[in-house]
Amino acid sequence: MGPKGDGVNEHRGHGDLWIFGYGSLIWRPDFEYSESRVVWLHGWKRRFYQGSPDHRGTPESPGRVVTLLPEAGARCGGVAYRAAGDIDALLANLDHREKAGYERMCHAGHSESGETILAEMLVYVSPRSNPGFLGRAPIPEMAAHIAASRGPSGPNDEYLLRLDEALQQHGIEDAHVRRLAAALRELRGDSIPINRAT
Ligand code: SIN
Repeated sequence: MGPKGDGVNEHRGHGDLWIFGYGSLIWRPDFEYSESRVVWLHGWKRRFYQGSPDHRGTPESPGRVVTLLPEAGARCGGVAYRAAGDIDALLANLDHREKAGYERMCHAGHSESGETILAEMLVYVSPRSNPGFLGRAPIPEMAAHIAASRGPSGPNDEYLLRLDEALQQHGIEDAHVRRLAAALRELRGDSIPINRAT
């Protein structure tokens, strides 16, 4: 976990705490919340560039999970949750869950077209500077890496396929996740591409 003096505690004093999930927090939030909604972060893109030594891989062989990278004109759809229950315990659990490279950040939540919906949300982001950052690789290489990785939370391919499924269920387009999931399915023989079917 990175520094925590980032406005999150101040924000809690002013009203509700909203938490934005764009990876496993979309399909396994694992905390109490009173409301959720699809929200977009403008100026950020989702990428499978973060190493996972503790959930979907091991320290010797980290898996690949998502982080956010800033990019002008990009946008990333996810789910924002209004936190409920014991907020201190909830944050302590989340800090622990996201400890491998992720830092708390505060961002506004937008509609897909860019109107501000939520003034502030807590977002866990693993910056390029963290030691577990793996960065870019060709899609087939990342798919093969994900197919071969597994950690205490389960196989890495489950993380990718559940995210792909959840994004579709919420009507969120993400070409990076779609391409990676398609490459993984092809590798596993889950589907036969139309041009190869006879
Ligand atoms: C998130 O889901 O918002 C952070 C990344 C992850 O835990 O998969």
